[in-house]
Amino acid sequence: MDPTVTIAFSQECAGLGEKIAIGLQARSITLESRIFPDGESYLRFGADLSGQDLIIVKSCFPQQDKRLIELLFALDAAKELGARRTIAVVPYLAYARQDRRFRPGEVVSNSTVGRLLEAVRTDLLVTVDVHQRESLKNYRIGTVDVSAMPLLAEYLNSMGLDRPYILAPDKGASAHAQCVASILGTEYTHFEKRRDRVTGQIVMREVDADIEGRDAVILDDIISTGATIAEAARIVKKLGARKIIAACTHALLIGDAMESMVKGGITEVISTDTVAGSTSKVSVAPAISDSLRQHL
Ligand code: R5P
Repeated sequence: MDPTVTIAFSQECAGLGEKIAIGLQARSITLESRIFPDGESYLRFGADLSGQDLIIVKSCFPQQDKRLIELLFALDAAKELGARRTIAVVPYLAYARQDRRFRPGEVVSNSTVGRLLEAVRTDLLVTVDVHQRESLKNYRIGTVDVSAMPLLAEYLNSMGLDRPYILAPDKGASAHAQCVASILGTEYTHFEKRRDRVTGQIVMREVDADIEGRDAVILDDIISTGATIAEAARIVKKLGARKIIAACTHALLIGDAMESMVKGGITEVISTDTVAGSTSKVSVAPAISDSLRQHL
């Protein structure tokens, strides 16, 4: 065990945090957290941090503002408490989708998140399948985007699917589909999807793919409301697919996401533990540990 490396995580990331600590054979400590009656967060590190390379594991899924501010508090305090380096492991990076000014006057939240991490002297950000990898180029701190796709592919491979066909719901997810398809040794394609920037409505064009009687995997980085996957599933069903699996890295599953995907024809949802839940069949811990090893 390296005595200069410490991993801290709060309750909601305990499963993933412990796995990373075991993978790195590093000391793990809890980041004690409480909520004051007025809603403000209280945080406390349960060990001495002086001279440590401190890894803080905190995924910023909803409630993302709360988790983000707690992450910033913790990173800031860690340096005050004498940590030599701070590494923020943020498996789900909140606000990553607002990485551009799509309409005049819009706030580019993703850039502000980068500046906030820099302001609290974060040395390195490690995230998983960030919405657009290019968006991290604007960050003035070290960044690593780890891919969960090989791990998802390994799980899909173990499912014994019948001649699986991999589909990305839009061009943005096409590289993920390509990666998984190449590991499974099968075909892939992507839909043409357009989202109305005002109403959020999506329109998806039919695809021409030989899916009849085969198992289909619709693969995306994020499932939020499930609308994108449900729409893709409806089209895939019309093409005669047998089972239709939805697979993603980050399953936010907001509101009745699950119900609408099932209505669309999805038979099973598979995700990772960047957002821990009932669909998290795959842990990203090995990929994060491998990446951290190169930076310690
Ligand atoms: C957008 O481009 C993302 O890759 C996902 O497709 C999107 O965030 C999914 O959102 P929803 O589940 O609400 O359709």
